[in-house]
Amino acid sequence: MKRLPHVLLFIIISLTATVKTEAQSNLNTMPHYFYPGAIWPDNNGVHINAHGGGILYRMGVYYWFGEHKIEGEKGNSAQVGIHCYSSKDLYNWKDEGIALKVSDDPKSDIAKGSIIERPKVVYNKKTQKYVMWFHLELLGKGYASALGGIAISDKVNGPYSYLKSFRANAGKMPFYPAGTAEEEKVNCADTLNKDNKFFCRDFSRGQMIRDMTIFADSDGKAYHVFSSEENNTLQIAELNDDYTGYTGKFVRVYIGHQTEAPALFKRNGKYYMLGSGCTGWAPNAARWFTADNIWGPWIFHGNPCQGPEAQITFKGQSTFVLPIEGKKNSFIFMADKWEPKNAVDGRYLWLPITFKGDDIQITWVDKWNLKVFDQ
Ligand code: GAL
Repeated sequence: MKRLPHVLLFIIISLTATVKTEAQSNLNTMPHYFYPGAIWPDNNGVHINAHGGGILYRMGVYYWFGEHKIEGEKGNSAQVGIHCYSSKDLYNWKDEGIALKVSDDPKSDIAKGSIIERPKVVYNKKTQKYVMWFHLELLGKGYASALGGIAISDKVNGPYSYLKSFRANAGKMPFYPAGTAEEEKVNCADTLNKDNKFFCRDFSRGQMIRDMTIFADSDGKAYHVFSSEENNTLQIAELNDDYTGYTGKFVRVYIGHQTEAPALFKRNGKYYMLGSGCTGWAPNAARWFTADNIWGPWIFHGNPCQGPEAQITFKGQSTFVLPIEGKKNSFIFMADKWEPKNAVDGRYLWLPITFKGDDIQITWVDKWNLKVFDQ
């Protein structure tokens, strides 16, 4: 009896030591590197399932939203919804669950089996709502609907409620910055102009929306940037005050050159846009543009990738550029390596963007971390 307190003390001390060692070793084993193209386990050890995604930073936490894919080719359509993950360090991600669920009602716009791609979430200060935009194709119609869809939530990780979907800017002509020559303006009466063919065809119904992103500018304005006109031309359309529609002001960019997978960022007051060509799930060369004004002119600069497989973007396709919070000149190029035969196995290629003056370069690295931005 007399010895019991010692025994108890011993047990307590050894238990504390074990807990400490485990915590310590957990810390040591927590990944502090990105491994582009590798399986990326979440906090449950499951490969992150957030394809064609984008990231929103809110109060110390990064939220990654992307397409939840399932196994096989069926996984190329929306069987589950939009998945959300959270992280404080960008290496370790916690599964926050499905932020937007597909509907079991086949008549719903976001019915199970529809196509819901490239979700991007923005926070609207005025309404204090989180607004999710995505490319939507109605069930059973292939890629013919070409709609933009919106879902909203009071909480960043959802659940998001589906609001509406639409084509863009029906009945509206583009905005022409001062100095635009008369012959550069759209004239739908001129049926010989092939560059305007699809724009004019869709003028009344609204412009097509396929690959897309949302760009939130530093002045509180946000823009929907999307492949339009049968993927021939990008459009940049200003969002209204609550981010759930357009103001009607938009421009057409790089007309007739089939740019997909747009991703924008801003550095030193200059706008940058990355994108890809248009070859379905197969990779092609990335492309980049700059502009001093969101309305253009947008200057095409070719392929930012360097080294082996630069011609196929290291087998990936852009989806987002992530500015690192609190770190100047620190931007991550986020791309998807699609696996259309087994969609769930799609991988993520995150690579640092390197600046040479105002020019950018993207080079492959097998393993890297945020310290590269300190150099
Ligand atoms: C890609 C596009 C993807 C998906 C795919 C379907 O070009 O970027 O988001 O739409 O085509 O083939």
